[in-house]
Amino acid sequence: MATNPILPIFPETAAVGSDNQLCIGGIEATALAKTYGTPLYVFDEQTLRSQCRSYKTEFTKRYPSVQVLYASKAFTIAPFVRIIAEEGLGLDVASGGEAAIAKAAGFPAERAYFHGNNKTADELEFALAWKIGRVVVDNFHEMKLLDGLAGKAKRKQDILLRISPGVDPHTHHKTTTGITDSKFGFTLENGQAMEAVRLAQAAKNLNLIGIHIHLGSPIYEVEPYAEGVKVIFAFIAKARDTHGLKLLEFSPGGGFPIQYTVDKAPPPLAKYAETISTAVKAACKRYKFDLPKLILEPGRAIVGRAGVALYTVGAIKDIPSIRKYVSVDGGMGDNIRPAIYGSKYEALVANRVESKEREKVTIAGKYCESGDVLIKDYKLPKVQAGDIIAIPASGAYCIAMSSNYNAVSRPAIVLVGKGKSKLWRRRETAEDQMRNEIL
Ligand SMILES: Cc1ncc(COP(=O)(O)O)c(C=O)c1O
Repeated sequence: MATNPILPIFPETAAVGSDNQLCIGGIEATALAKTYGTPLYVFDEQTLRSQCRSYKTEFTKRYPSVQVLYASKAFTIAPFVRIIAEEGLGLDVASGGEAAIAKAAGFPAERAYFHGNNKTADELEFALAWKIGRVVVDNFHEMKLLDGLAGKAKRKQDILLRISPGVDPHTHHKTTTGITDSKFGFTLENGQAMEAVRLAQAAKNLNLIGIHIHLGSPIYEVEPYAEGVKVIFAFIAKARDTHGLKLLEFSPGGGFPIQYTVDKAPPPLAKYAETISTAVKAACKRYKFDLPKLILEPGRAIVGRAGVALYTVGAIKDIPSIRKYVSVDGGMGDNIRPAIYGSKYEALVANRVESKEREKVTIAGKYCESGDVLIKDYKLPKVQAGDIIAIPASGAYCIAMSSNYNAVSRPAIVLVGKGKSKLWRRRETAEDQMRNEIL
């Protein structure tokens, strides 16, 4: 019987099999490591699909017209985008590259929304040619550029305006976006947002159909969403009265959290769905709006729990009475979050899940930076070279933010389920890294 308190942070199918082995999707993690090598990112299909369904269900239970978009910046590869399409979600893309992956995956363009604070002319042209559903216009420069390009493409482009409502979601300062001092969106406080509505209404080739806000990520409290809705609807009502804004769609963005560590569990999804639905309905009643379509943009919450990073232990350096470093074969190149956000993770030894014998170690990466530490001062069973370390909650913003620092190749990615595994992306090679170089 599994007792390890970390297991619930792993994918839904995680279990402890015979010989004290971690299993995901019905397969031993060590067997996956042997077949595909490490570092390896393992995604559990059941968890991915059930997260998509939970978001749809929890919001549609409470609100009549809902479109959940998966925010592809959290993790985008074509085979996964196909799962998103199958589950009936839309897609938030934040670059021409993400749009190109979606297009290559056969994702329906009308369910894609284009985000970003500095979309280039090339990216916008690509999106227009693809007939993207919506562009979420972020600033005056983009509005003018898009209006011109849409005219050239003979297209009247549906848009939302991204507005920075001046609400603090109390998350890391590097992932806070909805405050006034932010590079994202039209600022509400200084009148720029109202001016944006006026200009969008006057733009010949743009069709303004809604308003978007995104406060930050991950948001472990529900109150900022209620506050954001309240603040933005006062603005939307004024924009309707002054410039005839029609509100067909409204998005409170993404930012829904997942559990990374045993001591920090987020509120349940139902609480977010209840808070947001209630706040939007109340605001619509107050300002006499028909209920707009509610657009949610979870990224991390769809993929985070489904992903597990597997590493092999290599060098171990013990500095008596100071620290014991256990180095693994990945690190900041595949998971930069601890280095840039101070993010915390749990870990276990996949080939010895339950163990009474523990020692304090620091799990370090293989990159040439002292800051390349995945988990500092952490109690693990005694490890030795060759052990497999599994870090849960690694599905979001790890592979997506990965780099080739030190010219280390990016990990392979596999999908698991019902006792089977499928390679989703092969391990990068040194040749792959050099393919654009003029040798
Ligand atoms: C506009 C927008 N929507 C959605 C998201 C997704 O956030 P999360 O992955 O925390 O749900 C982000 C993240 O940066 C974002 O900028």
